[in-house]
Amino acid sequence: MLRKVVLVHLAALLSAASPLASANPNSNFTYDEKDFLLDGKSFQIIGGQMDPQRIPREFWRQRLQMARAMGLNTIFSYIFWNDLEPNPGQWNFHDRNDIRGFFRIAQEEGLYAVLRPGPYICGEHEWGGFPAWLSQVDGMKVRENNDQFLNATKRYLDRLGSELWGLQITQGGPILMNQLENEYGSFGNDKAYLQRTADILRENFEVFLYTNDGGGNKTSLDGGTLHGVLAATDGRDPKTGFKNRDELNDPTMLGPQLYGEYWLQWFDNWAASVTHSNGSADERTIEGHINNLEWVLQGKNSFNIYMFHGGTNFGFESGSTGDNPTTAVTSSYDYGAPLDETGRPTEIYHKLRDMISKHVPAGSIPDIPGLPKIAEVAEFSMKPALSLFDSRSSQPQKQANSPVTMESLGQSYGFVLYEHKLDKDISGTLSPGDKPRDRVIVYINGKKVGVIDCTYKSPATVPLDVKKGDVLQLLVENLGRVDFSLAMKDQVKGIVGDVKIGNEILKGWATYSLPISQLPSLLNKTVSAEDTPVFYTGSFILPDGTETDQSGDILLTFPKGIKGQVWVNGINMGRYWTIGPQQSLYIPGCYVKDHAMSNDVVVLELEPKAGTELTGKGVATREWFNSPDPDAP
Ligand SMILES: *[C@@H]1O[C@H](CO)[C@@H](O)[C@H](O)[C@H]1NC(C)=O
Ligand SMILES: *[C@@H]1O[C@H](CO)[C@@H](O)[C@H](O)[C@H]1NC(C)=O
Ligand SMILES: *[C@@H]1O[C@H](CO)[C@@H](O)[C@H](O)[C@H]1NC(C)=O
Ligand SMILES: *[C@@H]1O[C@H](CO)[C@@H](O)[C@H](O)[C@H]1NC(C)=O
Ligand SMILES: *[C@@H]1O[C@H](CO)[C@@H](O)[C@H](O)[C@H]1NC(C)=O
Repeated sequence: MLRKVVLVHLAALLSAASPLASANPNSNFTYDEKDFLLDGKSFQIIGGQMDPQRIPREFWRQRLQMARAMGLNTIFSYIFWNDLEPNPGQWNFHDRNDIRGFFRIAQEEGLYAVLRPGPYICGEHEWGGFPAWLSQVDGMKVRENNDQFLNATKRYLDRLGSELWGLQITQGGPILMNQLENEYGSFGNDKAYLQRTADILRENFEVFLYTNDGGGNKTSLDGGTLHGVLAATDGRDPKTGFKNRDELNDPTMLGPQLYGEYWLQWFDNWAASVTHSNGSADERTIEGHINNLEWVLQGKNSFNIYMFHGGTNFGFESGSTGDNPTTAVTSSYDYGAPLDETGRPTEIYHKLRDMISKHVPAGSIPDIPGLPKIAEVAEFSMKPALSLFDSRSSQPQKQANSPVTMESLGQSYGFVLYEHKLDKDISGTLSPGDKPRDRVIVYINGKKVGVIDCTYKSPATVPLDVKKGDVLQLLVENLGRVDFSLAMKDQVKGIVGDVKIGNEILKGWATYSLPISQLPSLLNKTVSAEDTPVFYTGSFILPDGTETDQSGDILLTFPKGIKGQVWVNGINMGRYWTIGPQQSLYIPGCYVKDHAMSNDVVVLELEPKAGTELTGKGVATREWFNSPDPDAP
């Protein structure tokens, strides 16, 4: 292990070529039985969470300034492994994945940081941060004492450590401490697994570790804590959490009290009728939360507000939470947070600032920087340009007796198209493998005949009466791998097992990979809207006076759209779905072009209706409501 550590130090030295703004190589962060100690003096963490990979890189500084201006002194961040290592051994630390850049800016803005690298992070993110390819490794068992999983974990944390070594407090950086796993006690209680993960973290970081588990009962604390690692709790009840934590028998887990996540609001699922987008929706509940947080500060204890700023699950990054039915998370991760998805303060922000200001030296909280309004964009039309099925490769990625899974095609996100030509007449109910994974649109000879979707309480049954020569197509969409509960052990997408009509197994499948990691060339060939998915194109120009900064922020709606995916200037912005509650997509100003230049919009509408022209429109305020589901079973 020694050789490894030397290598890591060397990498850190190399990466320290551009020194930090306020580098103080002598700082240290420790704790005694009741306080965190920064350079020997007691330090209270007034923390809030934001995850760099959910925020445009260009806006990191503004979000961090707003954190300081609310009175926070520390930022907690999850790291999404799946984005850093999209394929085994292939690393991406660019743009939103430049987490070293994020922590540098945090330090320049006067903030400390707490690292939450997982490897499992939950966070309502695709598979809790795991890369989809993990499931293709023979014998892989995630979050277990399993060599395959721990070897992959070690490669990830070795690489992350070499990126972030120089950003630890001991090296002149802002990172105070490092979280081991995440709420592991809600999943298992295998101490050998936790110990091996702790060992890997300690090889790669020198700041101390802590665990974070549900504080509501002792079962989760017993499962998730580890000898020699400070224990923290989370939830909405710090009094109970702190009490349960203090009753742990192992004194090496005790020390200052940190409420590792205070859930101020919540995330949104597609189809949910509640909305957490308006932070002030329930004044009395919010007052209760603020009183709880004030109680923590009065007791000289520490907290992390989850989320301070939620941001956006861009692209295909949103996860799913429960199982049976699966609850798929919206593209917006607004979370009803004090700083909304667009980086603007809400009513809770001001209330928290007032509360915090009573507990910190007068004048130590900067003024709140001013912000431009959201830009409005007049309605513009979207023309059909290409059928999704025509964008597939000329040959299938796999031709075999049985359909193959998305991951076995080397694909993590997006869609897979399965095609079978009937060699006899059959009638009966369709079953698309062991279960829908996740949303299956069924076509016979290019005509949509049903939707089977695991996010519905009871997915539809699709009766078929097909003839020899008919073509059956199944378009399967990954709606986000489950990030929580034991369901996360089996997160393979596409079709698993046999496709049957009645009891008849269909043999002979062409499988086409449709990750849409890049847009196909849209041929400007006018196609008439029909039943199979269609790419539409359109464009808009920002109003006068708007720029590529926050004055160019827009909230884009597609009022006639049913369900689909949106790209602006080639960047995948996320999903829309008429069922809501999310009805508008946040398009950050840094991703659009200055006024007078045209911005390209592409929409993949999965359920186009003949004769309906799509339109786009930039609205002044977020739209959050439910509309009837045309596919409800
Ligand atoms: C931490 O910093 C304090 C104050 O500078 C110093 O007295 C102490 O020795 C340091 N501790 C370690 C472990 O470096
Ligand atoms: C895990 O890594 C160790 C050390 O490199 C190696 O000996 C072992 O074969 C690996 N095991 C698996 C299952 O990958
Ligand atoms: C305690 O928490 C665990 C994990 O979240 C949960 O499974 C269990 O039902 C809870 N037990 C009680 C008594 O509330
Ligand atoms: C939130 O909702 C309340 C009650 O519906 C309303 O009065 C308030 O203006 C809303 N606030 C924001 C920021 O939208
Ligand atoms: C696409 O078609 C429209 C209408 O037919 C035409 O006005 C436009 O110039 C074409 N664009 C390109 C890039 O060919």
